[in-house]
Amino acid sequence: MKTKNTGVVSMNEEKSLGLEGGFQVDLRQTVYALSDALDLVGIDEVHHGKRVGYMAMLCADKLGLDVKSINDLFELGLLHDCGVSSSRDHQQLVDKLDWSEAQEHCRVGHDLLKNFAPLAHMAEPILYHHTHWEDLKQMDLPPELCLLSNLIYLVDRVDTQSAVHHEKDVLLKINDLREFVYSKRESFFDPQLVNAFMDVSSNHAFWLGMEQRHLIHFIADMGSQDIQTYITLEELEQLARIFSRIVDAKSQFTVEHSEGVAGLARYLGEIYGLSPEACEKIGAAALLHDLGKLRVPDEILDKPGPLDKHDRAIIEQHSFETYEILRRIPGLEEIAKWAAYHHETLHGNGYPFHPSTDEMGIEARIIAVADIFQALAQNRPYRKSLPLEKILEIMETFVIDGHLDSMLVNLVKQNGERCYQEATFRDQ
Ligand SMILES: [Fe+2]
Ligand SMILES: [Fe+2]
Ligand SMILES: [Fe+2]
Repeated sequence: MKTKNTGVVSMNEEKSLGLEGGFQVDLRQTVYALSDALDLVGIDEVHHGKRVGYMAMLCADKLGLDVKSINDLFELGLLHDCGVSSSRDHQQLVDKLDWSEAQEHCRVGHDLLKNFAPLAHMAEPILYHHTHWEDLKQMDLPPELCLLSNLIYLVDRVDTQSAVHHEKDVLLKINDLREFVYSKRESFFDPQLVNAFMDVSSNHAFWLGMEQRHLIHFIADMGSQDIQTYITLEELEQLARIFSRIVDAKSQFTVEHSEGVAGLARYLGEIYGLSPEACEKIGAAALLHDLGKLRVPDEILDKPGPLDKHDRAIIEQHSFETYEILRRIPGLEEIAKWAAYHHETLHGNGYPFHPSTDEMGIEARIIAVADIFQALAQNRPYRKSLPLEKILEIMETFVIDGHLDSMLVNLVKQNGERCYQEATFRDQ
């Protein structure tokens, strides 16, 4: 990972920044966009992470933290709930002030980020972001860690109490919300953080800034700051893998689905003869292809019988959601399309864009083939996983009806065993 201030970049500098070959993706822009995927877990109640980041930043400013720590806190706010994939768990965390199973999402979030160097500094604050201050202060942890995690805890609990009042009557609730925080001083929250919160939350602007229209501008301003930290293609893949785990953890049936689609898609790219860089990009797109599924309620993904038309209408939004998240990351425009086209067909009968046969490039066709293959090889609530011969038979029918690329399906047939392994070996 390389950092630079924006400006003119010489050719030598460009090489040292890892920008040669045209890959130029900014970590901050990527984190901001991917955090939108986490917000989808709230279904219709979105922007929790953004409001937590916003409040944490303003409190940190009041506490006199330096600019870098304030910016880091904002990103920590955006990602603090990366351990929540299920809409049911999200609801419990919103409905219950002190949910007895809350620690699990802290542990999951910590484990997801701890080995990814650019974001590893968030792992421990996430681990303790539901620990009461009265316990935290006994734990012999570094004071800075206690401050970060307890501040996120404080503003997180404020948001779960106040979210329903934004865009409506939040100004009528200010006293109640501040009294709530004060009542948890010493027990849930560090008194110095409570004092900072009481200070910043005493004005109307603090609360009104969290209305969706204003929050979106705030995020845009944050994103336009003149600091860029480029990630390598390898780091993008690592980050994509983290998000693929968040998506796949949504249902017991899709565990490692995206990883399997990526393994098979990369392999198909290789035997088709694409360059190693193109195969890596296909792998990243495949890891991210189902991001938008975070917005599908758990009941639909886990439904034991066939889906009705209402369920379908909800499911069929997911690849568009994937596109909307990824297209906003400068440098990932192609990857966004490849990922979002995974339910398109060669004859334009898929969803959501209905591209023409020519617009459906080889990369998107590969991911569409890999997605179907992997899904057939996995258990689903309404059927068991299928053996290779049956998968190939079904894929042949998809070729006949113009759904899948016949040349790619032939490649799959010629390398059936290996394809099966690529798509599933991580499951076994
Ligand atoms: Fe949260
Ligand atoms: Fe999908
Ligand atoms: Fe998929």
